[in-house]
Amino acid sequence: MKKALILAAGRGKRLDRKSKPKPLVEVGNRPILMHVIEGLAAVGIEEFHIVVGFDRERIVREVTSRVAGQWKLNFIDNTSFDGGLAHSALCGREALDEPFILSMGDHLFDAAHFARIAASPPEAGGVTVLVHHNPPTEKATSDSVKVRGEDGRVKAIGTDLTEYGGVDMGLFSCDPEGLFPVLAEAVATTPDASLAEALQRLAGRGKLTCLKADAAGWDDIDTPVDLIRAEMRLRDQARAGVLSHVILASTKVPDAVHDFVVGEPVTTKMVMMRGFFDRPEGFEFIPRESASSPIFVFSDETVTPLYAAPLFEKMRSMGYNAHLITMPDGETSKSLASFVELTERVLRLGVDERSVFVSVGGGVVCNVCGFIASCIYRGLNLVHLPTSLMAQCDAAISHKQAINGAFGKNMVGSYYSPRMVIVDVNTLRTLPTRLIHDGLAEVLKHALCQEPDYVEYLMAYEGDCVRDIDFLEKVVSKNVRLKCELVHQDPKEHTVGMVMQYGHTLGHPVEHMSGYQLYHGESVAIGMIVAARVSRILNICGEELVTAHVDLCAKFGLPTTIPAGITVDGLMEALKYNKRYLTEGTQMSLLTDIGRPWAVNGRYVIPVTNGIIREAIEQTMGVQA
Ligand SMILES: NC(=O)c1ccc[n+]([C@@H]2O[C@H](COP(=O)([O-])OP(=O)(O)OC[C@H]3O[C@@H](n4cnc5c(N)ncnc54)[C@H](O)[C@@H]3O)[C@@H](O)[C@H]2O)c1
Repeated sequence: MKKALILAAGRGKRLDRKSKPKPLVEVGNRPILMHVIEGLAAVGIEEFHIVVGFDRERIVREVTSRVAGQWKLNFIDNTSFDGGLAHSALCGREALDEPFILSMGDHLFDAAHFARIAASPPEAGGVTVLVHHNPPTEKATSDSVKVRGEDGRVKAIGTDLTEYGGVDMGLFSCDPEGLFPVLAEAVATTPDASLAEALQRLAGRGKLTCLKADAAGWDDIDTPVDLIRAEMRLRDQARAGVLSHVILASTKVPDAVHDFVVGEPVTTKMVMMRGFFDRPEGFEFIPRESASSPIFVFSDETVTPLYAAPLFEKMRSMGYNAHLITMPDGETSKSLASFVELTERVLRLGVDERSVFVSVGGGVVCNVCGFIASCIYRGLNLVHLPTSLMAQCDAAISHKQAINGAFGKNMVGSYYSPRMVIVDVNTLRTLPTRLIHDGLAEVLKHALCQEPDYVEYLMAYEGDCVRDIDFLEKVVSKNVRLKCELVHQDPKEHTVGMVMQYGHTLGHPVEHMSGYQLYHGESVAIGMIVAARVSRILNICGEELVTAHVDLCAKFGLPTTIPAGITVDGLMEALKYNKRYLTEGTQMSLLTDIGRPWAVNGRYVIPVTNGIIREAIEQTMGVQA
């Protein structure tokens, strides 16, 4: 068979990717229809007759440009594309006068399925159908087409069969003399007849042969979950296909194997204590066994005079062998060069294995001090005294320590837990207004991902969030609780802990591309709005989720659009320098509603194609200069 008829006229109502007709929706960064065309071409098809309807021009344009004269294309119009598939298939009657393969334009098939149907030409006056016999359970619904066969012949087809061997027909080899007459008969009786109704006539005449398709590698893409499952399958396949040599079972026996397990669980004490800095001598924050060891108080140029220097003086007067290390403010201190310089300074001053590293400052100081503490002597005591809202809500309640690489944020780091974190919200009185708003982004993140009631509370709040220390204490405490719950459940962020990354997949590139003019929280706010739009484009949430994100961010003084100067292309490029970007594509944490992270097949990291991310970014672009 050298010819194929592909049905690509439908609108894809259940997938409802508003901006794209279903055949052009991308899986593995290529439109579904291109997968079908290329799969058929690989088994020898040279002439493609494609029935188009909804958004016809766009499909013709995109497919033609991609095929670029490689194969013969003929587009056939079906103006009543909202009708049944029998009419759609009948549109191909004039074009096909020899046996051909009929394929759905919205299915993703493995090469084996194409090979199987290509090797099974139809008998004279008949049709052979490849039936998927083991689809995901939610696909065997009352709407799905079921098939009952006997000795390789289809006996009955329909949605209402109670006994059946397969669900879903996707690939057929057809004799035009067999298929088109039954299509015409069915359409004459019911203008929007289904393909199953037409084929039932052929089955009644004993002319419909069936083949069972292997269970794997078959996706009928109707819903967002189907789309993501197909995406996961392609990425798994790509991963498996990379190696030229795969060890399926070890054939070489090692001389000996010894296991060892290291690391005891570390508990971090999260202490909420308003007024700590007024009287640090009133609370034991340095372990007693470290009393005579060198203690390193890290801070930055702004926080040193406010909190770190007074603390340091008090510690000296209490008898501690304390050293104060002040770094410049901001992200430049999170560089590899700064790390080397500060680490060598500590080593020069002298350190012992009971030394304690105390960070006093915002997230930058937490991260730099934390990473150095994790590296010197392969890990020394760490205590965080966070002074910014961002650090109190997020950076300090963390075992993630990191510095930046030349190409992006937090690229070099470790998992290393502080012994203790003490939060004194009184320090927020000196924090600039913009940084209060900035820190609230992480509050919004936990609220949006974990607690609808909390979102309601935040929406209803009417005070001056910047000066209302009681409000800030409340949200910090709440954040500490919500974050501790997540970190405890899933410390390495493999499952539900992924929501801690919510908004960060795009937030980090936005922050980086702004040249760090946008702060971390501001960038995460934009990243969360992009993530909500990704959910919307995938049609797993309603427009209200996007609106809630935008309203909440606007209410708490956070940006809601990507500022001028950052381009879509620039962001797409920067996305690669991100832990969530695997070479096969980007993974995101997504919501289906407030408080409801989206999981597919138990996985909370949802693979998202570049096309969708680009679309969501475009919808979030501000007015460009
Ligand atoms: N490890 C994690 O899990 C994690 C989580 C969130 C953020 N982070 C990191 O944290 C950093 C952002 O933290 P940040 O927003 O605190 O930035 P930051 O540390 O740069 O602090 C911002 C500014 O506020 C000043 N400041 C801090 N406390 C003050 C106070 N009480 N009064 C007056 N000024 C004060 C600082 O001197 C600095 O100039 C980023 O590098 C981000 O990557 C890490």
